[in-house]
Amino acid sequence: MRRPIIAGNWKMNQSPSQAEEFIRGLLAMDYDIQVERVLCIPFLAIDRAHDLLKTSDFFIGAQNMYFEEKGAYTGEISPTMLKDVGVTHVILGHSERREIFQEDDDLINRKILSALHHDLTPILCVGETEQEREGGHAKEKIEFQLGKDLQEVSHSEAERLIIAYEPIWAIGTGKTASSDDAEEMIQAIREWLSSRFDDAVADKIRILYGGSVKPDNIRELMDKENIDGALVGGASLDLQSFAALVNY
Ligand code: PGA
Repeated sequence: MRRPIIAGNWKMNQSPSQAEEFIRGLLAMDYDIQVERVLCIPFLAIDRAHDLLKTSDFFIGAQNMYFEEKGAYTGEISPTMLKDVGVTHVILGHSERREIFQEDDDLINRKILSALHHDLTPILCVGETEQEREGGHAKEKIEFQLGKDLQEVSHSEAERLIIAYEPIWAIGTGKTASSDDAEEMIQAIREWLSSRFDDAVADKIRILYGGSVKPDNIRELMDKENIDGALVGGASLDLQSFAALVNY
């Protein structure tokens, strides 16, 4: 049995003081404790968030990191720095990082290996553009990304991965993939993982859907056999809707 996850991706929203107020609100709500909750918070707010969340069962995620531990990498944040402030998860390869900041699969692969090496749980994002979907290349695209991003990852490391299937055309657009389309793609990811690793590993890896997930479509997605949770942007910034997502 794979434990369901709802992960909020706050993106570049919430200053440390706003984050504090929001988290106090979150802590006052009731949650289904079977659902793993991860908050992927802007770097600056993580330390304050950790003070508030350390006695709770929320996990704290970062939204990016560099692969080196320290050194002359102006503007970057390392895995050891993240660990020091209580981070357990890190989103890597988000389409906004790939598109706006030109991160390529080689860089993402180095980050994945580094996160695993430092005992951080990577949430690896993959997904196709609208054009690739219309051209019938959606599966080809994600298999290409997975192949590159997971190079040199061992079987035992792979079990700790979380993968998020996020069709780019569905992110922040209000267009969600239908639950059948999402399931089909996520099943294809699981099959790819079986052949890259083995059935036992593929069975353990949790695969999330992301892209305009809201309280009114979460149930249908979670009912699918292969969908283990959601990576949620916009709707994770509202207290009521985040709670409703967790309590789907
Ligand atoms: P969205 O973002 O829920 O606002 O579409 C999802 C994501 O980018 O992870």
